[in-house]
Amino acid sequence: MHEALAAFIAQCESIVAAKEKTADRVTTIAPLMQKLATRADEFLTEDHKRPEAEHYARNAIHIAPSGNLSLFALVWLPGQWTPVHDHGCWGVVGVVQGLLEERSYMSATGDIAADSGIRLKRGGVILLNPGSVSSFVPNPDHIHMTGVARTRETCISLHLYGRNMNSFHIYDVEAGTRRLVDVPHHESR
Ligand SMILES: [Fe+2]
Repeated sequence: MHEALAAFIAQCESIVAAKEKTADRVTTIAPLMQKLATRADEFLTEDHKRPEAEHYARNAIHIAPSGNLSLFALVWLPGQWTPVHDHGCWGVVGVVQGLLEERSYMSATGDIAADSGIRLKRGGVILLNPGSVSSFVPNPDHIHMTGVARTRETCISLHLYGRNMNSFHIYDVEAGTRRLVDVPHHESR
């Protein structure tokens, strides 16, 4: 593994060990992610930059054996979007290339405790260009959809999560429901 990546992951591991509160973790990791994103051309491999024609691609960079961290490179072709989703953990996102858009949603009824009867309100939008960082913490979960407009260029972003991110809830905003789905990824050499 490239030394910049190995150092980043080691720093994140020690921050997780030292800081109990998820808001403190993302606050401390955000500037590290900012630096990492600006030098990603040094360590991203062709595997990490693989797109998929049908939907955005998730290429694993590191999945900690402990299950307490995972880092992915996401590749977004123009017009590719996530569904509206949550994360169930904290996370920090850094953009490497292109312009990534995040559209926020919030629960109109406080914490979501069931898979139906959910009322989501649309919130604001964030446009992240290379070197920009965003983050989130759980409880209440941050709910959003992320993607790249059809008129924009391919985007690559780094996503660090406070768990092995292999599932999330996706929301049907009109129906007021959510369901837990598996989220696949590619392994990388
Ligand atoms: Fe997300």
